[in-house]
Amino acid sequence: MTDTSTISAAASPASTSSTARSNSGLVLPRGLDVSRTAIKISIIGAGFVGSTIAYTLVMRGVASDLVLVDTNTARAEGEAMDIAHGAPFAKVSSIRAGSYEDTAGSDLVIITAGTNQKPGETRLDLIQRNASIMRDVAAQVAKHSPQTVLLVVSNPVDSMSYVAQQVTGFPSWRVIGSGTVLDSSRFRYLLSCELDMVDARNIHGYVLGEHGDSEFLAWSLVNVAGMGIDETAQAFGVDFGSDKRRQMAEQTRQAAYEIIARKGATYYGIGMAATRIVEAIVRDERSIMSCSTLLDGPYGINKVYLSLPVVLGQHGVSHVFTPDLTDDEMTALNHSAEILSEAQNSVA
Ligand SMILES: NC(=O)c1ccc[n+]([C@@H]2O[C@H](COP(=O)([O-])OP(=O)(O)OC[C@H]3O[C@@H](n4cnc5c(N)ncnc54)[C@H](O)[C@@H]3O)[C@@H](O)[C@H]2O)c1
Repeated sequence: MTDTSTISAAASPASTSSTARSNSGLVLPRGLDVSRTAIKISIIGAGFVGSTIAYTLVMRGVASDLVLVDTNTARAEGEAMDIAHGAPFAKVSSIRAGSYEDTAGSDLVIITAGTNQKPGETRLDLIQRNASIMRDVAAQVAKHSPQTVLLVVSNPVDSMSYVAQQVTGFPSWRVIGSGTVLDSSRFRYLLSCELDMVDARNIHGYVLGEHGDSEFLAWSLVNVAGMGIDETAQAFGVDFGSDKRRQMAEQTRQAAYEIIARKGATYYGIGMAATRIVEAIVRDERSIMSCSTLLDGPYGINKVYLSLPVVLGQHGVSHVFTPDLTDDEMTALNHSAEILSEAQNSVA
C-alpha cells in the first residue's frame, strides 16, 4: 500500500527539476506491496474501454480481484459475467460488478467513465460533460481507496487527470493519465511498417504533449538499436523527410477519428496500452512510457498535466524525464501546454 505521509512535495518521486534525473538519495514513501500476489483493481466505467481493459487484465493475469462499477449496473454485471465465464482459461480469482463500497482498499483504480467522442468530435469537446462525471467518480474513489494509484483514461485525458488530482488531493505521482501511451504505440507501429516490420517493441519513440490534436511526434528521441532517426533511415534505405514526417504525424493524430468513423469507438488499442501501464505499476517494473503527469517547472511549464516519458512503478510515477528537444519540438510542447492550461482552467 502507498504511504505518502513522510514525503514533502519538493522531494516527491515526481519532482522534475532536472533532465533525466536520478532518484538516488531520495527517501521514497512505501509504494504498493509488489511482493503480494493479491492485487485488487477497480474499473469505474464498464463501457467499451472499461470492459476491454478488464478483459485484457484478466487475460494477462494482472489482477486477482477485479471490480467493475458503472451507473449502468446491468452493463457492469453483464461484462463481469461474460469475462468470469472464461475463468478456466485465465489467471484471475475474481471479477465482479459492484458498488463503490466493493472497491474499498483497491491497489489501483482505473477511471474510464464518461462520454466518448462521436464522429467528428474532438477530445476537448467532451470536457465539460466528463469533468462533472470525473468530479463525482474521483470523490468516491478517494473516499473508498485513499491510498490507491489512480489511472485516468476518460477523455480529454490530460484535463480529466488534473480534475481527478484536484478532487482527490492525492500526490500527483499517484494520479496518472494514460496520456499518449497509445499514440506512441501507434507511432512505433507506423515506424515498424516503414522499417521492414522490425519488432515494434524494439523501436523507441514518443508522442508528447496533449493526448489530442496538438500532440507531436518527437523525432529527435527515436531510437532503433542505438541509432537516431537519420542513421536508422540510412540503415533501412528509408526516407523520413519532412513530407513523410508530416504524413506520419497526421496518421497518428487522426487514428482515433479514423477508427471512430468506421466502428464508432476505439477500445482494443487503449485496452492493451492501459494494461501495460497497470502491469508496470503493480509489478514495479519501472518501465518508461509517455503517460500524462503534472509538470510543474521544467521547460518553464507550470502545473499542467501533459505527456512526457515517465518511469512507472509501485509509486505510480517515480521520474519524469525532460529530454532536450529541438526548437520545433519545444514550440509544439509549449503550444500543447497552452491549450491544456486553458482547458484545465475551464474546469478548475
Ligand atoms: N485515453 C485514451 O487513449 C482513450 C481511448 C479511447 C477512449 N477513451 C475515453 O474513454 C472514455 C470511455 O469510452 P467508452 O468508449 O468506453 O465509452 P462508453 O460510453 O462505452 O462507456 C462509458 C461508460 O461510463 C459509464 N458512466 C457514465 N457516467 C458514469 C458515472 N458517473 N459513474 C460510473 N460510470 C459512468 C457509462 O454508463 C458507460 O458504460 C471516453 O471518455 C473516451 O473518450 C480514452
